[in-house]
Amino acid sequence: DLSALDGSLQYCFKMTSKFLFEGIWLDSRFTPLENLCFARNEFLVKDNDVILVSYPRSGTHWMIEILCLIYYKGEPSWVQSVPNYIRSPWIENNHFQEYIKKQDGSRLMTSHLPVHLFPKSYFTSNAKIIYIIRNPRDVVTSWYHLVKGELRWKQPKRFDEILDDFVQGELAYGSWFDHVLGWIKRREMGSFLLIFYEELQKDVRGSVEKICQFLGKKLKPHEIDSVLQNSSFSAMKENKMSNYSTPDNHITRVFTSPMLRKGISGDWKNHFTVAQSEAFDKLFQEKMSGLDAALFPWS
Ligand code: A3P
Repeated sequence: DLSALDGSLQYCFKMTSKFLFEGIWLDSRFTPLENLCFARNEFLVKDNDVILVSYPRSGTHWMIEILCLIYYKGEPSWVQSVPNYIRSPWIENNHFQEYIKKQDGSRLMTSHLPVHLFPKSYFTSNAKIIYIIRNPRDVVTSWYHLVKGELRWKQPKRFDEILDDFVQGELAYGSWFDHVLGWIKRREMGSFLLIFYEELQKDVRGSVEKICQFLGKKLKPHEIDSVLQNSSFSAMKENKMSNYSTPDNHITRVFTSPMLRKGISGDWKNHFTVAQSEAFDKLFQEKMSGLDAALFPWS
């Protein structure tokens, strides 16, 4: 209850909005504690649900667009009339319960939660998970540009400060390494599709075909053409329902920077110094030593 705090404490709370939950930093502006508790303990995942999971800035919105278009066989009316955060609402976020009520059948939803904070009901369901991973160097670069435009900061954090937060797991949703390691283990369990942002960049048609197969959706070649056309970076950038330019959305109340920025792989090379890049390579090798390096398309 903010009103119970004196003025300066209220100010501090509003300035941080971060809270630590079971070792994971979250941002109460998007994920209030009560929503998180509902998501985790009460929300019932159904067998025919499809859940897109990612660490933030990994290409989540791109994948939402692809999935929505696949659901409509390439026909763009849904993506052009309903905001993306309502088409595939975030399980842990504000308004989830309101938005999910609008869906029936094979419901589509999104989450950035690490596996240990995921809805408990998921673990006994046959729901399908699509987990998208992006080169963490590009993830942190993308994150830096997003928070640079955070309205509440007079002076945004420098790149090296954001990189430090990222490495320490202090950005919202915790450590990228733990997120990926936690989720990737589930790829052997079925009903789980692992996909890389870089794979989408390299062969978007092949990736869309793979997603269709995973979802059991059969699209004709011209329908796939339409999925590709309407989910392209330029189409999304122009679509008000995909670029957060509808009035009163939760993103532009917090950030002035565009959610769709460059949409390329490798921009990290314009941000990391040689020393930062070497230190990051070392950290990556240490943290991900249990996985085959060939798994990651950038290595
Ligand atoms: P950049 O900041 O590097 O441009 P998320 O959706 O998980 O928040 O990820 C955001 C990143 O995905 C941003 O990266 C954004 O530009 C990129 N992105 C969004 N839509 C895209 C698309 N259609 N094609 C390529 N990249 C896209």
